[in-house]
Amino acid sequence: MKTLTLRRPDDWHLHLRDGDVLKAVIGDTSRHFARAIIMPNLVPPVVTTSDARAYRERILAALPAGDRFEPLMTLYLTEHTDPDDVEEGGKSGLISAVKLYPAGATTNSHGGVRDFNKAMPVLERMAKIGLPLCVHGEVTTPEVDIFDREAVFIETVLDPLRKRLPELKVTMEHVTTADGIDYIKSSERNLAGSITTHHLIINRNAILVGGIRPHYYCLPVAKRENHRLALRAAATSGDARFFLGTDSAPHVDPLKECACGCAGIYTSVNTMSCLAHVFEDDNALDKLEAFTSLNGPAWYGLKPNEETITLEKRDGPVKFPDKRDSGAGPITVFDPMFPLHWDVA
Ligand code: NCD
Ligand code: ZN
Repeated sequence: MKTLTLRRPDDWHLHLRDGDVLKAVIGDTSRHFARAIIMPNLVPPVVTTSDARAYRERILAALPAGDRFEPLMTLYLTEHTDPDDVEEGGKSGLISAVKLYPAGATTNSHGGVRDFNKAMPVLERMAKIGLPLCVHGEVTTPEVDIFDREAVFIETVLDPLRKRLPELKVTMEHVTTADGIDYIKSSERNLAGSITTHHLIINRNAILVGGIRPHYYCLPVAKRENHRLALRAAATSGDARFFLGTDSAPHVDPLKECACGCAGIYTSVNTMSCLAHVFEDDNALDKLEAFTSLNGPAWYGLKPNEETITLEKRDGPVKFPDKRDSGAGPITVFDPMFPLHWDVA
């Protein structure tokens, strides 16, 4: 049997939610991952250091007995965020990053930023203390086609912001386009990108061909095949500016299978199996550890995990549950549409 041992991976972009859903999903991450950057888009969002401290306690309380997992907390940037609170959270080690959602860009983002001038004092303080900004990189202007929103964001928001504040460390999260990859590669410093599992596997056909398939709908929405290939090339290259952020985003089925379904794909269950498959397909299994376990910690100024996990390639396909039950309803697990043979031992 083929095996592959890696340092224990981390997830640099994860939605754990709260309450019943948190309890149902946390074990799927803590089973394989040592740490994760936790997204703050709860209802209401995690906006202050004290909100983040309380949420962190709820996450730790929901962990399955015996699992060791470190939630790396983020704050949801608003036009009213207090720079002193951010600095205190950052310096105490509780806060690992601040998350920028352009208002209206995605699930629970209506409290995000409309006028970037209002956020400048916080961003300047973050640049000063070296606290990274995690960015949902899409404009929300109705005139801009949804498939172009990332490229337009880079040109009209991100690049001007980085020119104005070159010392700010920016993580461009869930990059979905060749434009995003090229922009990150063209930058010498203070810019990196996370890439999801599902954007390495699906293009927009998965959502739209043969019927509308809500479980492949997420934001940023999957793009054309040439973009998927650019993401794969970046992820499997070993380039230290790219690392895994699953963006695993559970929603219960009734909220996805309806006339106006939520964006988000639940990939925590089989992410490591999917990634081993993708990297093997691209003859890059030797680069998997950089993507899942080395590049992210280096970017966030942390040590890689000392523990390891071992992946095994089985002859027969590995079975995963189709759904995860939660007290709030079933959550559909990502189906890569090909059999998976790799599993975590
Ligand atoms: C995320 C969610 O559901 O919170 N949805 C998604 O499609 N990725 C929000 C986000 O990261 O955009
Ligand atoms: Zn997300």
